[in-house]
Parts: sequence; C-alpha cells; structure tokens
Amino acid sequence: MRLQLLSLALALSQATHALKIGAALHVFEHTPLAYAAKHFYKGKTPANVTAGYVGLLANDTSFDLAANAETQGLKIYANNRNIRLIYIIVEVPYRLVANKASGIKELKDLKGKRVGTFPATSAQVFVHNLLSDAGLKDGDYTEVPGYYHCMKEPCAANTFPERFRRGEMDAFGLWEASVELGIRALGEENVVVFQNKSSYREVYSLYSTKEKLEDPVIREDILEYVRALRRAQQVYTYYPELVYEFAAKTMSMDEPIVEAVWNDHEWLSGGWEPELLGFLREEDAYLARKDNRTKIPERDLRRFLDESILEEL
Ligand SMILES: *[C@@H]1O[C@H](CO)[C@@H](O)[C@H](O)[C@H]1NC(C)=O
Ligand SMILES: *[C@@H]1O[C@H](CO)[C@@H](O)[C@H](O)[C@H]1NC(C)=O
Ligand SMILES: *[C@@H]1O[C@H](CO)[C@@H](O)[C@H](O)[C@H]1NC(C)=O
Ligand SMILES: *[C@@H]1O[C@H](CO)[C@@H](O)[C@H](O)[C@H]1NC(C)=O
Repeated sequence: MRLQLLSLALALSQATHALKIGAALHVFEHTPLAYAAKHFYKGKTPANVTAGYVGLLANDTSFDLAANAETQGLKIYANNRNIRLIYIIVEVPYRLVANKASGIKELKDLKGKRVGTFPATSAQVFVHNLLSDAGLKDGDYTEVPGYYHCMKEPCAANTFPERFRRGEMDAFGLWEASVELGIRALGEENVVVFQNKSSYREVYSLYSTKEKLEDPVIREDILEYVRALRRAQQVYTYYPELVYEFAAKTMSMDEPIVEAVWNDHEWLSGGWEPELLGFLREEDAYLARKDNRTKIPERDLRRFLDESILEEL
C-alpha cells in the first residue's frame, strides 16, 4: 500500500513537473540553453527555458535552474545562501569601444572621460576591472548609466550603441552585440576596442539550489540537462556554422552579426579552475562596497561553487 502510494506520488510529480530553466531571453549567452533543450535533452520531464533569472530560484520553487553572469549570482547568493553555481555555460571577455575623436588611444586616456555601462551588472564590473587595471580609479571617469542594449540594427534611440553614436559618451563597455554594433555605428577606423581576459571575463553560469540538488528525481533531470548542455557547447565550439542560424533566429539577430561576435564567446566552458574562487572573492568585495553589505565569508563562497554535478557527468 505504502509502496503504491509512493509510486503514485512519484508518477504525479513527474507528470506535472517540467524542468524549468530561467534566463534573460534577450541575452545572447542564453542560446545554448535553448539549443540543448531542443536537440539533446532526454530527461524524464520536458525542459522548458523560460524568462527568469537566478533570483527566482531563491523563493519560487517552480524554477529548477537559472542562468546568469557570476555578478547576479553573487548578488543573490549574498542574501540567499541556498543558491549553487553548478556549471559554466560560456565565458565572455567583454569589449569596450572608445571613440578616437575623443582623444583615446590607450585605456589610461579614459581619465576624465564619459564611459557608458549598465549599473549593477557584470558590465559595470568589467569596466571597473579593466580601468582599475589600467590605473584609473572609479572617480577618474564619469560613468554614464544605460539600461537598454541592442541586438539588431536599427537600434532604438535609448540603447547602447545609439547613445554612443550621438556622442553622449566617449566609450562604453557591455555584452554583445551592442559593442559590435557600436563599432559599426562609428566605423571601425574611428574607434579603438579594448578587451583583456585577465582583467575580466563574464562567467555566465547555470545555478540551482541546495534543495533541488538534494531531490533525487529533479537531480536526475538536472544531470541529464547538463549533459545536453555540454553537447550543445561542443556544437557551438566545433561546428558553429550549424548553429549561426539557430542563434540568429532565437535572438532576432542578423546572421553576420552573430558570426562577428561568436569568437568573443568561449562556449566550451563547464567546469572551473581554482582561480575562479579568487576572481569571485575580488568581485564580491567590489559588489559588497557598491551594495553597502558585508562580504560573503570565504567558507560560504566555497559552498557557492558546487562541483557535485560536474563530478557526476
Ligand atoms: C513552458 O513555459 C511556458 C511559459 O511559462 C508555458 O507557457 C509552457 O506551457 C511551458 N511548457 C512546458 C512543457 O511546461
Ligand atoms: C527570498 O525570501 C527571503 C525571505 O522572505 C528574502 O529575505 C529574500 O530576499 C528573497 N529572495 C529574493 C531573491 O527575492
Ligand atoms: C591585461 O590585464 C593584466 C592585469 O589584469 C595586465 O597585466 C596585462 O598587461 C593586460 N594586458 C594588456 C594587453 O593590456
Ligand atoms: C550605499 O550607500 C551610499 C551612501 O550612503 C548610497 O549613496 C547608495 O545609494 C547605497 N547603495 C545601495 C545599493 O543601497
């Protein structure tokens, strides 16, 4: 009797459960999630990539997984210690584009200039790291806040790169395809582009929660989904010509722009080196200052990085 009830309960939970994956659907980095769900995932329940972000994992148990840059991961983990970073989807050394007409040849020329970025995002951390490594303090340049990116021309007036084209800033740093469109807006010969992976790369990651990872039924599907994701990353890396069209359609982008920004994305990520801990420690110290909070203690930072799924793959 108990066994029958248990299997009934299990059958019901499987019938109603779909593996729900939250991501910002307007961000290029999320496309392997959709590709994996469509072509490779063979879990017991369907996988559904839907609008969401890592913050939803904390309290909305309908979400099993979510994808975001390490920046949002840290910001949410600071107040929600059940979040776990379980896998890296893609690493992106962001780019910063500057107008030569503003007298910029090197990074240190950005002193006293107006630099666009999106507040409280990975792009702001990127600009901070890149410029501080070049010897500039946050107060040495004027940050121009933005909130709207662009994936396809014509770009709306309130977006980066349109505001850059209009001269509201001398440079901006952001995720793609805005920077690529910014370069094209002014013309390649009129801009200088900076990128330094050892100063900053976005670590766009897959998150879950302690509770979800401890649920054997859900964990099984998470494992299967991560395996599918790894196959998607292999296609993205070794056979990109097979996915340009898919990525362009998913993002409503022009295919030549997809191709142009492809190699700024290191699609074959997954696990991490011990170095990631130090990278996150430094970023958390910066975010803690910005958010007026205390830093995440070292032992909790270690707990945030959960390699158990990677080990089981
Ligand atoms: C996927 O999510 C969308 C939006 O939340 C929903 O309309 C759809 O029914 C879901 N599909 C599955 C298979 O759960
Ligand atoms: C989740 O709920 C807790 C308790 O109400 C709250 O402190 C926390 O900020 C919530 N997390 C998010 C990301 O909304
Ligand atoms: C990149 O940044 C590192 C410091 O993070 C610095 O040592 C290196 O010189 C920079 N590379 C370039 C090409 O500027
Ligand atoms: C942090 O504190 C400063 C100074 O009191 C304030 O200007 C800023 O808005 C605060 N930031 C946040 C994210 O609360």
